[in-house]
This record gives sequence, C-alpha cells and structure tokens, in this order.
Amino acid sequence: MIVLGIETSCDETSAAVVTSERDILSNVIHSQLDDHRLYGGVVPEIAARAHLVKIEAIIDEALQRAGVGFEDLDGVAATGGPGLIGGLIIGTMAGKAIAAAHALPYLAVNHLEGHALTARLTDDVAFPYLLLLISGGHCQLLIVRGVGDYQRIGTTLDDASGEAFDKTAKMLDLGFPGGPAVERAAQSGDKDRFALPRPMRRKKHCDFSFSGLKTAVRRQKDLLEQERPLSNRDRADLAASFQESVADSLADRTSRAFEVMTEQFGSGRPLVVAGGVAANKRIAEVLRIQAKEAGSPLITAPLELCTDNGAMIAWAGIERLKLGQTDGLDFAPRPRWPLDSSAPKSIYAGAAKA
Ligand code: KG4
Ligand code: ZN
Repeated sequence: MIVLGIETSCDETSAAVVTSERDILSNVIHSQLDDHRLYGGVVPEIAARAHLVKIEAIIDEALQRAGVGFEDLDGVAATGGPGLIGGLIIGTMAGKAIAAAHALPYLAVNHLEGHALTARLTDDVAFPYLLLLISGGHCQLLIVRGVGDYQRIGTTLDDASGEAFDKTAKMLDLGFPGGPAVERAAQSGDKDRFALPRPMRRKKHCDFSFSGLKTAVRRQKDLLEQERPLSNRDRADLAASFQESVADSLADRTSRAFEVMTEQFGSGRPLVVAGGVAANKRIAEVLRIQAKEAGSPLITAPLELCTDNGAMIAWAGIERLKLGQTDGLDFAPRPRWPLDSSAPKSIYAGAAKA
C-alpha cells in the first residue's frame, strides 16, 4: 500500500509518501517560521495564505522524490483537525481533490492520531503503549490501545508544555521559536540558581499545569530587574531553572501514568514520547530515567518525525485504510477534535493547535 499524506494544521506545509511496509519514500516539510518570526508566534491568517501558496508544489515534490505518480497511490490522507481552520481547509481540499480526480480512498486524519501512531511507523511498537504527547498546543498522557482507540488519562489544565517554552522565551527575549531558544540558553545556565515550582508534583491524577510556573518565571525576572537590567547570565539561569522544572513535572506525571498503565495492562509496556517538545535533550533524558525505573522501553521518533510532518499523517492513513476506515468527501475539517471523546471535555485536549 502506498499513501500520500498531507499536513497543514499549523505552520508546516508538508506532504509525504509512505508505504505499508513502513518505508518513508519522501517527507517534504516546508516550515513557515520566517513568515511568522516578526510577530513572535503563528498568525493564523498568514499561515493559511502560506499553505495555499505552497501546497501544490510540496505535493508535487513529495511524489517526485518518492518516484511515484498519482496512479501508484492506494489512498490520500490529509489532516482534518485539530488545528487552525484556514490551514485545515486547504489541506483537506487538496486531499479531497486528488482523491476525487484519481478515484482514491480519502482519509481525514486526526493530527493527534498522527503523532500517536508515529512510533509504529518508526519502531513497529505493538499496542497498548503509553503516550506522552508534548507539543505547542497539547500536553497529554494517553493509553494507545489500538487504532482509533485512545484513553486519555491526563491533560494540561492550562498551558501546553511547548506553549510554556514559547512564552518563557518571549518573556526572556530569547527569540522565536521558543523551545529551541530556551534549550540553547539553558545549556550555559545554572538550573539550581532559582527555586521554581514543580507543578502538580505527587498529585494522584495525571494532569499537568504550567501557567503557575510561567508566572513564577515572570516574578523572578521582575525581582531581578528591580536591581538592574537582566544579564545574559540571568537569562541562561532562568531558562535552565525553567527547563528543569518542566522536565521534573513531566517525569513526575509520567511516573504516575505508569502506575495507571500497570494497573490496566501490567508492567513494562513502552513509553512513547511525541510532539515538538520531545526534541528537548534534557526532557528526553529525564523521561529515559523514568522509563528505566518503570522497566519500560522509551521510544522517541527522530526529530523530523517528532515535529509536524506529512509522513505521520500518511502512516495514520495507512493504519486506518488497512481497517477499511475511510472518510466521505463530505468530511468537514474539525478545529477541535479530541482523541478520546469519552474523556471529560477540556479545551486544552483537542484545541486549535497540536
Ligand atoms: O509538535 P510541534 O512541532 O507542533 C505543534 O505544536 O503543532 O511542537 C512545536 C512546539 C513548540 O511549542 C516549540 O517551542 C516546542 O514544540 N519545541 C521545543 C523544542 N523544540 C520544539 N520545546 C522545548 N525544547 C525544544 N528543543
Ligand atoms: Zn503536532
């Protein structure tokens, strides 16, 4: 099976060709970072226009690099949500048009499902597994029981982890995108200089919270600035202290999730970490320690498959196509689309950015 995947839910325009044998024949990703840099964040209207300008060329390039034509495809998958509506419409229309013109099955893929199933593309991981999804719009713990079968056991109650990185970077004038900027600054910083809170530590549930931590960073910054302007050393130390606090909090919540997982499925099931924040080396390190303590393998995708990409959408499409779960051409994009519809409603678990 060969499937074309299209991703346009946020600020990456991407198209990829993937096979059911787990071969990524191509994965073309155009990041709009430069279009948004001036504004210090993703501007939805600019994102939508940029997707529209690029989408055709990106799809052509993906097919060309893969060495296939439309006639070789067995299906077309496009992100149907959650995400920014303008981009979702463009990707969905492109996917539907190709499916209609070439009489191919069409799959409207949940972006979060794309992140959730990537570990099966890269590492052939068997169900069930524990998934920590940490991105710009989400911070969730899920038990992935099967394709389309997700049990959300924790979510952030306010900011997503990536969002906390982005806001902290803005506060400290470290640049855009925030996550990598904070990580870079933290490298030369002292993580023990400032005692920042560890949100939700030791709580019985598996939920997260990052807004209090963000406020603590601001308060610390204000305190320093009462004396003198912030130095680069202050910035680095604050970035390192912040990063350590997020890492600790993620590790603590994940250790609680391992207990929940063990109660249901026994010990040793894998921990999969997905989403842009998984690129953070310190966070990956503390999660590795946590997984080892729980006797579980830790699986993180390579960087280009951690952040948004078409290959994960193509793969989720393949998984669904194998089960005959295709969609009608009347599918309407869903800016909000939680993975676990039975979990309590939370605007932070299926919100406009993943
Ligand atoms: O999954 P993703 O590529 O896209 C969406 O959220 O849709 O995640 C992007 C998020 C951003 O908030 C970015 O700041 C964060 O991941 N991020 C990082 C790092 N690289 C990206 N956060 C911390 N450390 C990093 N190295
Ligand atoms: Zn994402």
